[in-house]
Amino acid sequence: MTELPLWPVIAIDGPSASGKGSVAERVAAVFGFHYLDSGALYRLLAYAAHTQSVSWSDAAKLADIVSAMDIKFEGGEAFLNGVHVSPHIRTEHMGKGASEVAVHPEVRTALLQTQRNFRKMPGLVGDGRDIGSVIFPDAALKVFLTAGVETRAQRRYDQLIQRGDTADYDTILEDLRQRDLRDTQRASAPLKQLPDAMLVDTTKMNIAQAVDMIVDAFKKDHGNYIKNALSH
Ligand code: DC
Repeated sequence: MTELPLWPVIAIDGPSASGKGSVAERVAAVFGFHYLDSGALYRLLAYAAHTQSVSWSDAAKLADIVSAMDIKFEGGEAFLNGVHVSPHIRTEHMGKGASEVAVHPEVRTALLQTQRNFRKMPGLVGDGRDIGSVIFPDAALKVFLTAGVETRAQRRYDQLIQRGDTADYDTILEDLRQRDLRDTQRASAPLKQLPDAMLVDTTKMNIAQAVDMIVDAFKKDHGNYIKNALSH
């Protein structure tokens, strides 16, 4: 049997509202890599469970739902069983649901292979909480992307207002604190800064600066790979 080449992965992990998604998508575009928004998978599960009246605490039923989910991403939009569901999963409520379903080891195991299947030619940028620790521990570059919780709350608030939603800064701040706690303190694959991860703190940095830092770090260590890939 021929061994499949292990295409390089850039793993970007960090807390909610740190800007991971925007940064990861742009880094992927720079290198022409695929992009995995792993948080969207947990959001899709929370949403699917909600529509089937399954509790976010019912690990066994949640794992069953995962095995029946047909997930597709096209142009940054998420489809569940052929239906466009992005607006439904990008709510604060489904963000909380995602964080709750994500504590169950059964759920994480059920979603493991789905995530690994995103690793395709010529490479992948994945963002989440455990991309560098569990999903792709052999990632070529690991990044811990974070920002102070008040900065993240302010960004989330601005985003919601811009979208025309109503928002309350103090509620967002409190929700983020609770999600940080749940995501970092759970027993199964908690969010943590790995010793081999590069720290990118965006508290005083914009998205373009964070993208540049990551692109430069990958080019520095993988210049030969990039040269070879681009010459084909
Ligand atoms: O990145 P996000 O805010 O869309 O993620 C929503 C929730 O999903 C997050 O609070 C925890 C969970 N999650 C996870 O446990 N592991 C991942 N790799 C990605 C997200």
